[in-house]
Amino acid sequence: MEKKEQSTGGLHFVGKKDEMIEAKRSFRTLEGRDILIIYHQGGFYAMDSYCYHAGGMLQNGDIEEIDGKLCIICPNHKYKLSLAKGECIYKGTDPREKPPVPRWYSKGVKQRTHMVTETNGEVYVKLSEGTSWIESDFYQGEKGKVERAKA
Ligand code: FES
Repeated sequence: MEKKEQSTGGLHFVGKKDEMIEAKRSFRTLEGRDILIIYHQGGFYAMDSYCYHAGGMLQNGDIEEIDGKLCIICPNHKYKLSLAKGECIYKGTDPREKPPVPRWYSKGVKQRTHMVTETNGEVYVKLSEGTSWIESDFYQGEKGKVERAKA
């Protein structure tokens, strides 16, 4: 359910804490950006709601701990994105190892994450201020929205 947000000093009020906990996943549009806010194992996380790979709706992804990191698994092609940093991790082998042992590797930060804070039973999100391009930015732009609509 989409709610109208209020903003003070870059902090957007996104909901009452108990409601956000009950919902577990909440979709909000803040400053024109579509954000997914997740409550999982006692913590809040916020990230761009469309997967950087091909615009999948992360809202419906499972959450698992992988290699010590809580990750949401995109329902479309199962890419794994860490909730805390938006890092995409994958399992691979190094062919130089004899025998090769499968391990988790990082592709780096691919999904933009945002800061969540709680004050007096209210939850706020501050959008990431990083100016450098992160791949999930594509699906927040006009071109990306057109691409998502085609999928
Ligand atoms: Fe998310 Fe492809 S769209 S893994």
